[in-house]
Amino acid sequence: MTDNQATPTGPDLTRGIALAELPDGGKLVGHVGGEDVLLVRQGAEIFAVGAHCSHYHGPLADGIVVGATVRCPWHHACFDLRTGEALRAPALSPLACWPVAQRDGKIFVGEKPVESPAPAPLSGPRPERIVIVGGGAAGFAAAEMLRRMQYRGGIVMLSNDDVPPVDRPNLSKDYLAGTAPEDWMPLRPESFYSENAIDLRLGANVTGIDPRAREVALADGSKLGYDRLLLATGAEPIRLSIPGADQPHVHTLRSLADSRAIIVRAATAKRAVVLGASFIGLECAAALRTRGVEVHVVAPEKRPMERVLGPQMGDFVRALHEEHGVIFHLEDVPVAIDAKQVTLKSGLALDADLVVVGVGVRPRTGLAEAAGLTLDRGVVVNEYLETSAAGIFAAGDIARWPDAHTGERIRVEHWVVAERQGQTAARNMLGQREKFTTVPFFWSQHYDVPINYVGHAQEWDEIIVAGDIPAKDCVVNFRRGGRTLAVASIYRDVESLEAELAMEQQAAQ
Ligand SMILES: Cc1cc2nc3c(=O)[nH]c(=O)nc-3n(C[C@H](O)[C@H](O)[C@H](O)COP(=O)(O)OP(=O)(O)OC[C@H]3O[C@@H](n4cnc5c(N)ncnc54)[C@H](O)[C@@H]3O)c2cc1C
Ligand code: FES
Repeated sequence: MTDNQATPTGPDLTRGIALAELPDGGKLVGHVGGEDVLLVRQGAEIFAVGAHCSHYHGPLADGIVVGATVRCPWHHACFDLRTGEALRAPALSPLACWPVAQRDGKIFVGEKPVESPAPAPLSGPRPERIVIVGGGAAGFAAAEMLRRMQYRGGIVMLSNDDVPPVDRPNLSKDYLAGTAPEDWMPLRPESFYSENAIDLRLGANVTGIDPRAREVALADGSKLGYDRLLLATGAEPIRLSIPGADQPHVHTLRSLADSRAIIVRAATAKRAVVLGASFIGLECAAALRTRGVEVHVVAPEKRPMERVLGPQMGDFVRALHEEHGVIFHLEDVPVAIDAKQVTLKSGLALDADLVVVGVGVRPRTGLAEAAGLTLDRGVVVNEYLETSAAGIFAAGDIARWPDAHTGERIRVEHWVVAERQGQTAARNMLGQREKFTTVPFFWSQHYDVPINYVGHAQEWDEIIVAGDIPAKDCVVNFRRGGRTLAVASIYRDVESLEAELAMEQQAAQ
């Protein structure tokens, strides 16, 4: 997913370019030394920042500028053009910023990036210790934001995983396909945690919360007090209860260990059966095809992903996978698995030396439930992401929040939403009152085709397709009562960003 360039692009900006080349609202990529630099003009102000997104190197010149920010076309990160700060996940690291001068009708960029000013120290009382349960998207983004905000108190991150937080979406994409090395997977190197005084405890299973005593209990019998608690326990794959589903060649995919185990099995497997035509199931199918494994997909629905993306995109996704050799067995379900075969309800028996079960996930709400927090198919939080217990926040796959755009309480399983909720929860644990108003966004990757989705449409009464889905050039609008609830797109990044902005503006009215 990177497009690292050996040679820099465009004019040498230290030598100056004519002001007329950069009209108001314009963007232009040039270089300073060996680095690509994006110049943006907003009225009287001109900004010079790194031209590539700090997430997966997306080309920011192809994104959109909103006020003094730029949004990445690929996964909608947002950066402050004045300071370079990554304001919105999935990017977490800032962009470099260069000084800009204007002389004699020309724009000149300085040779060295400028240091961004450190954020103002926090004022007022702060919690002494913040405990985060979960070492995933939301938990990590919260810890990172707490330190970014100059919080000096204790941060303890308890994760029952055995590795530090990883780039989970990649577990079913490039990493599983063998096209991304393992060193891309950690969100940060291990040294990050000690350097930032984040007490990351791996293999630490939290077994209970006492909201009155403000303590969590761990499986080793120890207890840990907190002033603020963030619950970010994510979701776990649903396991099948059919005979044979517990055999060693039957896998689910959530953790790095799961992905590694599938990779090991795929090295010798000739034929895989993927149960479920969901995002993870189909991404996994694509990755296994890249590894040369024969793949059969079994699912009860008529079309893959129809429930989320509608029939037109569902047909496209099916055709795309079939072009790559995937064989579908739709409107069918497995009834038994043995060492060599998966037997379907229709009576068909599919040979399989690897089985991947991707039939959905269940939010891990057990701790919240036992602690007496309000649940509703997830942990109920208010617009500040606080649960029904004072001082306990929840974020990510477990949280059901009041969505500003639809007016409904929703819970989604999206990486970017989890990270952004972690960031908002961090600020609110420090006493800010920031509402979580972000429009949901997710992406999914099948072979070389990215599908981007903004908004949230559980049900719709109309689908409007602009462009050509089979040509991989489309915007699909999901509407209800004449109102756009969500937009899916393929290679229409600017329209996707603009749809997100329009939904934000509607929600703010
Ligand atoms: C293979 C895969 C691919 C995906 N691809 C995409 C994608 O392309 N786009 C997208 O938008 N989303 C994608 N997702 C979904 C996305 O990863 C999740 O929405 C996101 O990770 C949710 O973040 P979270 O912090 O809520 O939970 P998680 O990231 O799951 O983190 C939960 C953490 O809590 C820990 N934990 C749980 N219970 C306890 C306990 N009792 N004690 C201690 N620790 C505990 C877990 O070990 C884990 O570290 C994908 C998910 C998977 C599995
Ligand atoms: S590459 Fe920019 S958000 Fe992912």
